[in-house]
Amino acid sequence: MAQSIDALLVVPATADVLAKFAQGVANDFLTTLYLATTAPVVVAPAMNVNMWEHAATQQNLGILRKRGVTIVEPGSGYLACGMTGPGRLAENEAVVAATLQALGCSQDLAGETVLITAGPTREKIDPVRYLTNRSSGRMGYALAEAALRRGARVLLVSGPTALNPPAAAEVTPVETASQMLDSVLRLLPEASIVIKTAAVADYTIANPPKQKMKRSGPLILELDPTQDILGEIARRKTSQLVIGFAAETENGLDNARRKLASKSLDAIVLNDVSREGVGFDSDSNAVTIMTKDETVDVPETTKWDVAQRVLDAVVRMKQKLLALSRA
Ligand code: CTP
Repeated sequence: MAQSIDALLVVPATADVLAKFAQGVANDFLTTLYLATTAPVVVAPAMNVNMWEHAATQQNLGILRKRGVTIVEPGSGYLACGMTGPGRLAENEAVVAATLQALGCSQDLAGETVLITAGPTREKIDPVRYLTNRSSGRMGYALAEAALRRGARVLLVSGPTALNPPAAAEVTPVETASQMLDSVLRLLPEASIVIKTAAVADYTIANPPKQKMKRSGPLILELDPTQDILGEIARRKTSQLVIGFAAETENGLDNARRKLASKSLDAIVLNDVSREGVGFDSDSNAVTIMTKDETVDVPETTKWDVAQRVLDAVVRMKQKLLALSRA
């Protein structure tokens, strides 16, 4: 376990545990885990006020601090022992914030509102059938979670998926490309960053029959093109940064470069969906992130990592714009 954890959180941390950590005593599960792990350690002490203020405890805290342990300071107030003063366990929000910082998750998207589209769309054929694609929504949901962790407000417009959206995202569920277009255009004025991971249907059936179609020989469906949501965003956007995804099976770089220009995007994330095991309906992805200034290859990794790399590129573009506006 010591090798597999991302962080060790001790909440609440007693005076005894702090003393053992400081001295390297390893005579039970928790203290052994502390000595054996190289992951960041966060402790949120809670104890009687006199124990907290005792020179021994303060000295132990000093040792741990010097060693890089994050101490989430206790709050002050009425304590379970009947005394009043510092020693109350810190609020959850403070513990979470300290942990994210210890993990190196910066809040570099604080103040931004990120509008993300995710998943497939469904176009009705008749009351029981529809046209759709293999998108699982995982890439978009990973981006939503990553943007939230980096401090952004997240508006998630999602086609039908089997996933639970991040609790803090503001979710608008949609089904068809046309519903996705309406929701995106409604939310666009609130957004400062738009990321379009959704695999939007390119064709729809204009007037699907009201009754279930019966089988009778070969069937020809007449399809009308859907509206290009990104095209509409490009026409209406003000200062938003817009990032598109390109799902390609051939000539990826050329097609992505063309879409970057033709859809007036600030960046495009090229997904080679012809490769087995990455992209559509998979936990991993391998992409190329193209902006006007750089092309970054992200070899096969988790969608979570890809999401972080896309957001890194977004933050670099934001910083560049800020520097230009100051110059
Ligand atoms: N997209 C969109 N509206 C559509 C179709 C696609 O906004 N009706 C967006 C997707 O969300 C994605 C980007 O456009 O961010 C590229 O999607 P893709 O399917 O790769 O490209 P298309 O524009 O559909 O072009 P083609 O199918 O010819 O490759």
